[in-house]
Amino acid sequence: IERIAVLTSGGDAPGMNACIRSVVRTGIYHGAQMFGVMQGYQGLINDEIIPLNSKSVSNIVQRGGTILKTARCLEFKTPEGRKKAYDNLVKHEIDGLVVIGGDGSFTGAEILSREYDIKVIGVPGTIDNDLFGTDFTIGFDTANNTVIEAIDKIRDTAASHDRLFFVEVMGRDAGYIALWSAIGGGAEAVLIPEKETSVDDLVDKLMVDLGNLKTSSIVVVAEGEHGGGAMAIAEKVKERFNYDTKVSILGHFQRGGSPTSFDRVLASRLGQAAVEALLKGHNRKMAGMISNHVALTSIDLAIKNKTEMDETLIELVNILAI
Ligand code: F6P
Repeated sequence: IERIAVLTSGGDAPGMNACIRSVVRTGIYHGAQMFGVMQGYQGLINDEIIPLNSKSVSNIVQRGGTILKTARCLEFKTPEGRKKAYDNLVKHEIDGLVVIGGDGSFTGAEILSREYDIKVIGVPGTIDNDLFGTDFTIGFDTANNTVIEAIDKIRDTAASHDRLFFVEVMGRDAGYIALWSAIGGGAEAVLIPEKETSVDDLVDKLMVDLGNLKTSSIVVVAEGEHGGGAMAIAEKVKERFNYDTKVSILGHFQRGGSPTSFDRVLASRLGQAAVEALLKGHNRKMAGMISNHVALTSIDLAIKNKTEMDETLIELVNILAI
């Protein structure tokens, strides 16, 4: 491996830039030629491949988003799209590819490297924290801190007005942000896709809470819950429980911002690990962090396996809400 390209794909996540920087500088340190692909897989198809040097990644460790930009690319899902992508890799004589993204991005990488002679290593970059083979994904910690800051502020106004708030956070298929921010933000309840909660049970709990000790409550809701997120659940609750209720949807605010120290260090370590894995001849692996050690997991497993949601965390929300 002598010429390595890096791309970011799927939803952006704070810390992606720190990871790009680490990939580029680790490659240069070991004598490789480094390239960046703009717009994820779309840039591979359109030949938007640019050489990167150490200076190209200066002053980005602290920046949210991704300097390489990102996209969700449908054309790459077709054999014709992947052929174009591979032809462009050959044109630039690139023999190793680092893909920073989530499971959709890894699926693309896996297929490309099975069809063609290109080695790929994935780095988990998504705020959702929903990948097997790593304790944390790049961006999760920053997103949680952003959510906690919002919940703290919502709590001030909820308490002043004696209101019930439904706060919707990101995670279409994964409840990690919801669960972590519910614990860290002191929410009364959490609704996540991994565990079904009936509206009746939720209303019973809120009636007890708000009828007794509490005058305000915060319920964290993962987007997509009950077929429409916080708005849908609030409507259903209001049908049974007449309380001053508000909905706050945090939205893409959660995906931006300067990465936390944790995310910067995680991104830097995984970027280094990805490049060194390529240089050692690894292929179709994801560089993750397990118990504070870098661990390579086959991309195949990282995509197929689901990390079990820790039931004790769900229980903790309930314990802390009494
Ligand atoms: O995967 C990250 C994520 O932010 C999810 O939490 C969310 O469901 C999705 O991306 C939103 O995607 P988009 O930005 O394309 O609307």
